Amino acid sequence: MENSEEQKYGVRKLEISDKSKGFIELLQQLSVCDSVSDRDFEDRFRELSAVGDDHVIGAVSYTHRDLYKRQANYKVKGKGYIFDKSKGFIELLQQLSVCDSVSDRDFEDRFRELSAVGDDHVIGVIEDEASGKIIATGSVFIEKKFLRNCGKVGHIEDVVVDSSARGKHLGKKIISFLTEHARSMGCYKVILDCSLENKAFYEKCGFYHKSLQMAMYFAHH
Ligand SMILES: CC(C)(COP(=O)(O)OP(=O)(O)OC[C@H]1O[C@@H](n2cnc3c(N)ncnc32)[C@H](O)[C@@H]1OP(=O)(O)O)[C@@H](O)C(=O)NCCC(=O)NCCS
Repeated sequence: MENSEEQKYGVRKLEISDKSKGFIELLQQLSVCDSVSDRDFEDRFRELSAVGDDHVIGAVSYTHRDLYKRQANYKVKGKGYIFDKSKGFIELLQQLSVCDSVSDRDFEDRFRELSAVGDDHVIGVIEDEASGKIIATGSVFIEKKFLRNCGKVGHIEDVVVDSSARGKHLGKKIISFLTEHARSMGCYKVILDCSLENKAFYEKCGFYHKSLQMAMYFAHH
């Protein structure tokens, strides 16, 4: 049975009135978070609320039990590259992690979904001109926070260089492109997770070891 103390608390959606309920002060216990003006708070709140399920902020408050979900903007830009499935993009990702074959329809749907939104999600690719194949890729998405004066954080994901093209500084080029994008978007930091084997590579790219990754995988995926 649930502890009666716990029963008093539920997760509900963050509301615009929460600024006066100590939401920013709570974030200040987590990290640097200067005071946020009412205007900035409302702007960031509306920006996040305008979209769907891809970005969720939950606030725990006494007796409320509803959930709040919101979507962040996503866009593929990749320095003007418009690529199709035939360029080997999926095969490249398969060198990184589990990536089943993707139907043309699914590929186009996801591509459009990402393209339809702004600079908040960018996939960079390097194409081999001779073969027309994509031989290196990486992505960055921009997380919009309340912390750090409504700051932004870049998250780098899915970095891979084709096994035949490694050691030619293409990985470094991809990371530099993604990092510069995050900087140009006004992020105060850019972060990523990697295995121990790749630590030295990222150090060469200017990153340093901080914190520890935690994960929870969902069985149905
Ligand atoms: C990790 C990876 C992206 C590196 O790409 P790459 O194009 O071969 O790397 P670069 O040529 O740009 O290397 C840049 C520098 O890092 C060094 N480096 C690269 N990988 C390294 C490694 N695993 N350990 C130590 N140093 C490494 C290079 O020697 C080079 O050093 P230099 O600047 O002194 O010459 C590539 O090996 C890869 O795709 N691996 C498989 C997928 C993967 O693990 N992705 C990362 C997920 S977090």
